[in-house]
Amino acid sequence: MLNFSNNNLNNEGRLRTVLDVGCGVASFGGYLLSSDIITMSLAPNDVHQNQIQFALERGIPAYLGILGTKRLPYPSRSFELAHCSRCRIDWLQRDGILLLELDRLLRPGGYFAYSSPEAYAQDEENLRIWKEMSDLVGRMCWRIASKRNQTVIWQKPLTNDCYKEREPGTRPPLCQSDADPDAVWGVNMEACITPYSDREYFSSHCYLLAFDFYCS
Ligand SMILES: C[S@@+](CC[C@H](N)C(=O)[O-])C[C@H]1O[C@@H](n2cnc3c(N)ncnc32)[C@H](O)[C@@H]1O
Repeated sequence: MLNFSNNNLNNEGRLRTVLDVGCGVASFGGYLLSSDIITMSLAPNDVHQNQIQFALERGIPAYLGILGTKRLPYPSRSFELAHCSRCRIDWLQRDGILLLELDRLLRPGGYFAYSSPEAYAQDEENLRIWKEMSDLVGRMCWRIASKRNQTVIWQKPLTNDCYKEREPGTRPPLCQSDADPDAVWGVNMEACITPYSDREYFSSHCYLLAFDFYCS
């Protein structure tokens, strides 16, 4: 759907880290493995019993987790693509807090692939949800990168420019400038947009050696 060159799913190595929320038995992560894409798949222990155990037995990275109230255990900008297929998460709840957590986790220009009845069904309720979600992601400065059949792929912005152009008072607000977007352990999610830092950390001048980062 994103028309990468040669139909190469990992986009010549530019798309390597994926987060699959509500993964079931992690079939999506399994599918992407052969394209050299690592997917972290997560789902809670609920009526879909033993789904994480099934995923692990298939050799697919997965862990028990839930998009609920605490941040997922990853610093901001960790993933190039987030995915939710029929995950039945109410993305509109609590001022869009769960969608804003995905936004925190996505890299600049990162994608959210969403496959759910709201993206295609024409009944009154699904149309209402689709309209409200479209309004919310529009205010978050996401744009539709592709939409086909039951799937929409949104892309978050590359810079802070769109955030700065929003009308004063637009919701969701930007997070406080002194908030640390990378603090995650036991930290509550917040219903705010994580803007990009002016600081260029993890630039191309940094490299990993013996588990330490060195920057020139
Ligand atoms: C119908 S299954 C879909 C599984 C898989 N995505 C697929 O398309 O085959 C719904 C999945 O969403 C998960 N789920 C529901 N609420 C969730 C939440 N708040 N956070 C993470 N996963 C959730 C369920 O545990 C289940 O794995």
